[in-house]
Amino acid sequence: MQAENLPNSIAASATRITRDIEILSGPDYTTSNEAIRRYAYTDAYKRAVSYFEDSLSDLGFEVAYDPVGNLVARNRPVGEPVFGIGSHCDSNRNGGRYDGTLGVVAALELCRLNVEENLGLPFQLISWLEEEGSAYGEMLLGSRIAAGRVTDADLAAMRSVDNGIPFMEEAQAAGFEPERWRESREILDDLVGWIEIHIEQGRVLQDAEIQVGLVTAITGVIHADLVITGRADHAGATPMAGRVDAGVVAAEVILAVERLARAAGEGTVGTVGHVTLEPGLRNVVPGLARVALDIRSVDEDELTTVFETTVSAARSAASAHGATVEVVEHQRQPPTPMDSGLVDALASSATDLGVETMRMPSGAAHDTMMVAQRVPSAMLFVPCKDGISHSPAEQARPEDAALALLIALEAIRAPLNTRTAL
Ligand code: HGY
Ligand code: MN
Ligand code: MN
Repeated sequence: MQAENLPNSIAASATRITRDIEILSGPDYTTSNEAIRRYAYTDAYKRAVSYFEDSLSDLGFEVAYDPVGNLVARNRPVGEPVFGIGSHCDSNRNGGRYDGTLGVVAALELCRLNVEENLGLPFQLISWLEEEGSAYGEMLLGSRIAAGRVTDADLAAMRSVDNGIPFMEEAQAAGFEPERWRESREILDDLVGWIEIHIEQGRVLQDAEIQVGLVTAITGVIHADLVITGRADHAGATPMAGRVDAGVVAAEVILAVERLARAAGEGTVGTVGHVTLEPGLRNVVPGLARVALDIRSVDEDELTTVFETTVSAARSAASAHGATVEVVEHQRQPPTPMDSGLVDALASSATDLGVETMRMPSGAAHDTMMVAQRVPSAMLFVPCKDGISHSPAEQARPEDAALALLIALEAIRAPLNTRTAL
């Protein structure tokens, strides 16, 4: 249902958001014309971040980067309270125009309105590095570093998915000082609150015909690989009996994930989106299988149970075939509730604007999970067509983002939500 009597700034903001997205979807900002592909530290990514850097500098913001390359732009000196806004502008490996980028563009538009309407609000805009994990296989990397949710060993072990070069080396080559990563926590020090605007990446809002969703909690996630070791035998000369086929065990794991996640019910999902078989030849029995697990749940116990039951199902399937399983856990983030005071403020600001909203959990992970460890945080969702995301077919309406940022602006201006005399 479309809201009436909204300020005509909506139309102006929607026009600028459309232009920003159009530019950032151009050939300079992606390494591929099949999808939006801009991974951490690539030239396409650097150009996208520079676009925001230049736009924010023009608005009088002080733009800096933390030791790993998170972009941090402020209109107040360090040490003064500011309200945090932003998202990420790196892309999924099969990326669309809007995932993340729409949130950074919406935050930039907030900064423009702040100047244009002389609102004097103190902002810090952050564009997080490597939210998607496309470059190093580790989702939410930039915000995890700021939240201190990594270790030296984690960072030392991270390698580029494409060329195997260590993360630390590529971060240094990009001009950053990743060995000082612990200082990244300082970028959250002055935040009195944080709001991220993002596409929903599902179709709840579209089906409900609602333009803005208020996120109540972000589901927990476990990312792990199951490395199954069998024996690579000749596919023709080896009888079926006595084979140690890692591929068959992987198949049983995939079915187990589907069965266990379904049995856990609403709010729990399990996915195997990537399997590698080695040596990966038609006429060789797979001697090794690497199964990428993505388990998520709004309920922390369910999250743990589905993961642990999957691992034990994999172990019994493996032993039935004479194979072994190694579990390589990448990350485990608990379900993260949003700040109820901030969510309520967003709800009342939407009501004041005559905009219908709905409260909903987020099935997708977001950098806001990490910010929320230290800062009162909330997220606003806007619909994406048919729920399509992590796909070049992703579509969203700039008008919805303009509406969401207006709601955020009104909530931030309300004194109770600046958490201090700004
Ligand atoms: O996978 C996720 O939840 C996020 O889109 N990176
Ligand atoms: Mn995203
Ligand atoms: Mn994503």
